[in-house]
Amino acid sequence: MMQSTFAIIKPDAVSSLFTGEILAAMEAAGLKIVALKRLHLSKDQAAGFYAVHRDRPFFDSLTDYMSSGPVVCVVLRGEDAVPRWRALMGATNPAQAEPGTLRAKYGQSLEANAVHGSDAQETAAFEIGYFFSGLEISE
Ligand code: TYD
Repeated sequence: MMQSTFAIIKPDAVSSLFTGEILAAMEAAGLKIVALKRLHLSKDQAAGFYAVHRDRPFFDSLTDYMSSGPVVCVVLRGEDAVPRWRALMGATNPAQAEPGTLRAKYGQSLEANAVHGSDAQETAAFEIGYFFSGLEISE
């Protein structure tokens, strides 16, 4: 099934100059980049994005981290894009991520784990709409 999903290259990976390698890995996995922007989130903007986690103990630290430097936001489109991008990312904790996955290669810690990806199509719709208008997405 053709799907859209949402990806973030997180501050640790952007500051470590892995943006190009991660974008190349997306394309190599058959995921088309249909929208792209680089921005530095405020803490409030990061909190809005991660609102689903607001009651979790790691929320304050996570939103500090996500607003600590620029991120690169990407809309991806392809066959089964949601699970395909999650598989390429690897497990949340880089220490447990499959070898060859992006989090295994580029993640620094459970929090600074290099990339984000939507976990379902409904989540992707919210996350894409949080960052992009329809005019900014072209297939
Ligand atoms: P989560 O949605 O569980 O993972 P994923 O990004 O794989 O969908 O958590 C969101 C982010 O929160 C995760 O990428 C890293 C951070 N996080 C922590 O800092 N500590 C934690 O204990 C967990 C579970 C997540």
